[in-house]
Amino acid sequence: PDLDQKKHVELKMDQALLLIHNELVGTSLTVYWNSESCYHCLYQVLVNVSRSGKPGTPSIAAVAVNTQHGSFLRLNNTSEEREVCRLEYKFGEFGNYSLLVKRPNNGSNEISCDLVVNKDPVDSNLPVSIAFLIGLVLIIAISFLRFLLSLQDFNNWISKAINSRETDRLINSELGSPSRADPLGGDIQLEAWRPSAPPSRLRCVDTFRGLALIIMVFVNYGGGKYWYFKHASWNGLTVADLVFPCFLNLVGNQIFLSMTSILQRGCSKFKLLGKIAWRSFLLICIGVVIVNPNYCLGPLSWDKVRIPGVLQRLGVTYFVVAVLELLFAKPVPENCASERSCFSLRDLTASWPQWLFILTLESIWLTLTFFLPVPGCPTGYLGPGGIGDWGKYPNCTGGAAGYMDRVLLGDEHLYQHPSSAVLYHTEMAYDPEGILGTINSIVMAFLGVQAGKILLYYKDQTKDIVIRFTAWCCILGLTSAALTKVSENEGFIPVNKNLWSISYVTTLSSFAFFILLVLYPIVDVKGLWTGTPFFYPGMNSILVYVGHEVFKNYFPFQWKLEDNQSHKEHLTQNIVATALWVLIAYILYKKKVFFKI
Ligand SMILES: *[C@@H]1O[C@H](CO)[C@@H](O)[C@H](O)[C@H]1NC(C)=O
Ligand SMILES: *[C@@H]1O[C@H](CO)[C@@H](O)[C@H](O)[C@H]1NC(C)=O
Repeated sequence: PDLDQKKHVELKMDQALLLIHNELVGTSLTVYWNSESCYHCLYQVLVNVSRSGKPGTPSIAAVAVNTQHGSFLRLNNTSEEREVCRLEYKFGEFGNYSLLVKRPNNGSNEISCDLVVNKDPVDSNLPVSIAFLIGLVLIIAISFLRFLLSLQDFNNWISKAINSRETDRLINSELGSPSRADPLGGDIQLEAWRPSAPPSRLRCVDTFRGLALIIMVFVNYGGGKYWYFKHASWNGLTVADLVFPCFLNLVGNQIFLSMTSILQRGCSKFKLLGKIAWRSFLLICIGVVIVNPNYCLGPLSWDKVRIPGVLQRLGVTYFVVAVLELLFAKPVPENCASERSCFSLRDLTASWPQWLFILTLESIWLTLTFFLPVPGCPTGYLGPGGIGDWGKYPNCTGGAAGYMDRVLLGDEHLYQHPSSAVLYHTEMAYDPEGILGTINSIVMAFLGVQAGKILLYYKDQTKDIVIRFTAWCCILGLTSAALTKVSENEGFIPVNKNLWSISYVTTLSSFAFFILLVLYPIVDVKGLWTGTPFFYPGMNSILVYVGHEVFKNYFPFQWKLEDNQSHKEHLTQNIVATALWVLIAYILYKKKVFFKI
């Protein structure tokens, strides 16, 4: 029995069955495959189909093909390496297809390749649509309920009907619970940056942070195993690529708001510096020790510990931006409101030293990225290596950024499964949170500081704030358009999460300004939306982040699935786990427990 001719293929999710019928007598075929989303990739051998024995009895080979993106297929004559035919098709999940390769009966020499659908694929996106609809229905139902409850008559009627206050009192006295007015015992406030301190806290910022965090939890738990909820293979943007930069942007925002209020309260700069250093140190420690992908290997597996990471990146970025702001901190002018000039650039001009520093840093990024010689690789290489760029530079993954990490930190101490591993067959270790990219995350956070400055300098002048947010959103958006030539792969600097390219930063900053532009008037000015439910995780972000990482493999955040290859089950599991974290954050908020470092 010929192994290539096996007809039983175990299908995984995002795969379809393709049966290749070779009816050509005396010609064996080699089938090559390439994904539409793989940029400048080498074709890979999919399967060999042996020659057909006699006319009318095709030789058949069965293979699983990927259904996430469109496929390019190329069929070659194995012995002569001559192309027989090629086709482009988007297969559907769990479909059953046949590719019939034959000479038509009319005697011509042309070979025909026809694709036939034996069994229709399933609709893999149906669960996402259903989840979305359920969410929408829930939101509408809750809004309607709240609206009803806000009507006085209805409220009276309902409280009479169930006599809730009396019941509440009875239950509470029964269980010996303290009344609401009692000071709460379990108040874990590790720090003076109380979320209740009014001037430093804007609800839209917390809401946005919560939104980013919740998407981050969902995505980290697997996002239903859909490709668009995972990180992009190399260039490009998916939902998963949106969250971390937004989070950094908000960190920058909050640095400025809380620092100003602390300094106003008379805290010395020196003391604040100590606090900043301590927080950064804690973040990095939590990142290396607790949220460490290798910790299952045992507590002493330091020789393979991953040094960079999300929290480490967060800690370093926070430290640089906070110290920068602290060094040049100036009191916010009090009488902003009296000066009615809309076009004042006070928020910008007051911070020229910071801008100078940031521009210098950015020049360093550009210089290193485009001019650092990397042995065996073209200077200024930005690609994924592997089979990308026609397989010419397999070991050049990430160009200068990857090279610096491998030299400075060592292969073993980097992330071992870069998102390009599957599609681009990258074999090098590459860390998306590496050293060089940190420069651009500092730029990202600094643009967040700028948003914070706008919110504070033009406090209570909604029009001024909205104009500035709009301007930043447009300027950064146009910069991205110029850098990327509005294309995924063809631009000067493509949008890339693995490299943290500058176009990625400008795109996501533009996006963050846009979200704030929408949320600020709705949440803080008009109070149309309280930010529920995102507001609660936003108030407890470190706890939710660390908690979701540490408990990701435990019930009820994960359980054994009936069908491991079903998007539906994965999606349900991930949504339940994410909702649980929202619930946990809500309970902690109600209990006034805030974990701050
Ligand atoms: C796919 O379709 C072919 C042709 O109808 C059939 O022979 C084969 O059993 C099917 N395979 C599966 C796994 O359904
Ligand atoms: C890339 O690295 C692998 C393993 O380290 C090595 O075997 C291979 O020859 C390298 N390829 C090139 C083109 O340098």
